[in-house]
Amino acid sequence: MAAYNVCHGISELFLVSLFVSSFVVASAGTFDGDCDIMWGDHRGKILDKGKLLTLSLDQISGSGFQSKREYLFGRIDMQLKLVSGNSAGTVTAYYLSSEGTNHDEIDFEFLGNLSGQPYIVHTNVYTQGKGEREQQFYLWFDPTKDFHTYSFVWNPQRIIFLVDNTPIRVFDNEESIGVPFPKSQPMKLYSSLWNADQWATRGGLVKTDWSKAPFTAYYRNFNANACVWSRGSSSCGSTSTSSPTPSGWQTKGLDANGRRRLKWVQKYFMIYNYCTDFKRFPQGRPRECRRAI
Ligand SMILES: *[C@@H]1O[C@H](CO)[C@@H](O)[C@H](O)[C@H]1NC(C)=O
Repeated sequence: MAAYNVCHGISELFLVSLFVSSFVVASAGTFDGDCDIMWGDHRGKILDKGKLLTLSLDQISGSGFQSKREYLFGRIDMQLKLVSGNSAGTVTAYYLSSEGTNHDEIDFEFLGNLSGQPYIVHTNVYTQGKGEREQQFYLWFDPTKDFHTYSFVWNPQRIIFLVDNTPIRVFDNEESIGVPFPKSQPMKLYSSLWNADQWATRGGLVKTDWSKAPFTAYYRNFNANACVWSRGSSSCGSTSTSSPTPSGWQTKGLDANGRRRLKWVQKYFMIYNYCTDFKRFPQGRPRECRRAI
């Protein structure tokens, strides 16, 4: 995993990508090496020689883990298999966050549901402590049957949320029109499984069925192809993108196919967009919404 976290120079990255493509399994990181279980006692477990992490929730507590490292820009991928069966009232949060007041945060939250009813993927972006930028989606598959990859691409131009490599949301850097963008506070990756049956499922109407506890979510293949922040400096040196490296996240935007996929998701799977919630913003919608989304 350490190798994945390096983004110094072309030659090194070239070596890394060679290494990665030829020895994917051998070079895969482990949860013991990359993450710490932070709360929930025995409810968070690292299994299978560090290749699998599970979080569980019962009536007493949920559980959570976080990355050992902090990142300032990068691409973070993780495979998750969400709580199956009746997961109503449970929330699996998977997010990047800085610390302190005026923090930045990039969120995925998976809101559980009754058996056979669809999860909601809730997304949000906080900049300097302010969020209120929710977009919500259904998924085009059952996220409890198999592992699927949920990714953040975060570079100085934009944030892209991806599900199995399909972009579901793009948050552009609109500093030029006065919208703060997360670009100077390093973030760790966090995930937790907890109970939020006051609001999660059908707005709180459906409560958690504790007779089905413990609820369990599964994680594997954490990969941070990112600039690691340590003692005040970045493994990428200057965060300027003047010399983009082969891994591509540093300048990634959407190509024609990505734009087409994003439109498909927005048309068929988006169920809430703060930018079109005119009632919520009687004084005018947030600035970034006045641009074409
Ligand atoms: C749960 O299922 C209901 C009924 O299909 C749906 O309205 C709701 O959006 C689903 N998801 C959540 C998290 O409430």
